Amino acid sequence: MQSNAQKPRPWWQTAVFYQIYPRSFADGNGDGTGDLAGMIDHLDYLQDLGVDAIWLSPHYPSPMFDCGYDVADYTAVAAEYGTLDDFKRFLEEVHQRGMYLILDLVLNHTSHQHAWFVESRASKSNPKRDWYVWRAGKNGAPPNNWLSTFGGPAWEFDPTTGEYYYHFFFKEQPDLNWRNPAVKQAMFEAIRFWLDLGVDGFRLDAISTLFEDPDLQDNQSPYTQADLYRLGQQAKIEQDQARIITAFRSMLGRQYDQPGIHELMRELRQLCDSYEDRVLVGETEEISYYGDGTNELHLVFNFPLMETRRLTPTWVINNQRERLATLPEAAWPCNTLGNHDSPRVYSRFADGQHDDQNARLALALLLSLRGTPFLYNGEETGMRDYLFPDLERFKDRLSLWAYQMERQVMGASHEQAVIRAAEYGRDKCRTPLQWADAPNAGFSPADVEPWLPVNPDFSEGINVEAQRHDPGSLWNFYRTMLHLRKKLPALMHGEFKLIGAKQNGDQQPDILAFLRQSAQPQQSCLVVMNFSDKPCGNPILDMTPLAAEFKTSQARVLFANTQHREDALNLSLFELAPFEILILELQQA
Ligand code: NOJ
Repeated sequence: MQSNAQKPRPWWQTAVFYQIYPRSFADGNGDGTGDLAGMIDHLDYLQDLGVDAIWLSPHYPSPMFDCGYDVADYTAVAAEYGTLDDFKRFLEEVHQRGMYLILDLVLNHTSHQHAWFVESRASKSNPKRDWYVWRAGKNGAPPNNWLSTFGGPAWEFDPTTGEYYYHFFFKEQPDLNWRNPAVKQAMFEAIRFWLDLGVDGFRLDAISTLFEDPDLQDNQSPYTQADLYRLGQQAKIEQDQARIITAFRSMLGRQYDQPGIHELMRELRQLCDSYEDRVLVGETEEISYYGDGTNELHLVFNFPLMETRRLTPTWVINNQRERLATLPEAAWPCNTLGNHDSPRVYSRFADGQHDDQNARLALALLLSLRGTPFLYNGEETGMRDYLFPDLERFKDRLSLWAYQMERQVMGASHEQAVIRAAEYGRDKCRTPLQWADAPNAGFSPADVEPWLPVNPDFSEGINVEAQRHDPGSLWNFYRTMLHLRKKLPALMHGEFKLIGAKQNGDQQPDILAFLRQSAQPQQSCLVVMNFSDKPCGNPILDMTPLAAEFKTSQARVLFANTQHREDALNLSLFELAPFEILILELQQA
């Protein structure tokens, strides 16, 4: 047992988070864009669904070149979402329901319209000049070969002073110079502003990109951006994709994870810990951002889980073995299947035949792995990626960049390029939430055009209202699982132990079984899942670890997604139905 077992467990280890993408969640004032009024109106909905905590994507004033990730004022609220008073009310209503709220904190860059940058670019002698990364060019070219992760060079020439500024993302997102102590001081003040208001923590955007190589040495990469785009589009299998991601990272190698970052994370942690019970979640998968497990970030995401194209027991086993083994002892895992930058989980795992079953397996896995789960708004109804083929309506400028690459690098026709750009961009997973089978899916009034097109499949049952009334719906599955998890300490915070399960056939191992065990209160749950469309007799192959610990092979059925399950079963003799998900309770010897 861990030495800190006596300490009360922090709320963020047992909570289930739900990401609200503010433009698309709920349109309270009927202007076509989500807002704080809509969020307040739907807090009962979230509570009833079983959500414990909310991660709110940026709600700050912004010219929206990157949908709010280009912040123009860190201590205010975007007018399209409401006022600071509306925000305070939202926070109060969240807390009144016993829920928590974390904000998105964009530290790496500001909007080019932020007052700091407006000053910084005004003259070389401006006191804010050094708040951003400015350099002279070399013989009419940018200072080095660095690239923007969103395409094109990372340096933008600014005619006012004849120098270049650095931007890891879009050129409308100039990078702050975190080596300047004044930047840190200003940002820490903004952080205190929200912590003083009572927010429960932050999700830290693009946290690994805060520092660049101070010597500005060139990146070494055999590839150009066009090469990598082409290879990425041609990648057929997951291994190809993984190789391309590695090549992409090395192309940007001197632009992230640079010296200074961990010291800064420790300072940030100290700031956060000077308030009670707050949490920092990093947008990175790098375990090093946990520090020693107590002194940097509280959580970093298990992004491989969000990025894999197929969930199979073998994949999950490898992922868990690798991550749990490398985690510092005091660190706590964090799992997610989707967010506003990734394909929707339903679409990602859809195979055209077992889409619904796959979505259920994915959720059951997310909620039963060890770690804090993060959900993304809309996935509870199985919202799909919506690939609207309309260049004019694209909002994500990544799609526009992909359109150009398709035309110039891939030689695609206009029609093909639009479709592929829709696939490449992120609008597909950001379309308005589908609340009902009503005009605009009940998101906005009938006579208002929502900011992004609504997926017409809302009329085919993919909406909250319809699914709420259908006991067999995905929405009710989410709700049932979320409420069940709250009752099971083993699932919320137990240890994780793999159990030898039957892995059918030559091609595809099918069964995943693992134990979750909590000490206080003591509970042992066995999770068994069949990832195939075939039944499986006696799925537990290796009873040894179970037999050693439990006095009987009888298990109590806490949850089964199939009908006709008895209340108990014999672990050494039972059959799993196709796609069956079982959560069982075992009695300690
Ligand atoms: C990561 C955010 O999730 C993404 O949406 C954004 O475009 C970049 N960081 C830049 O802030």
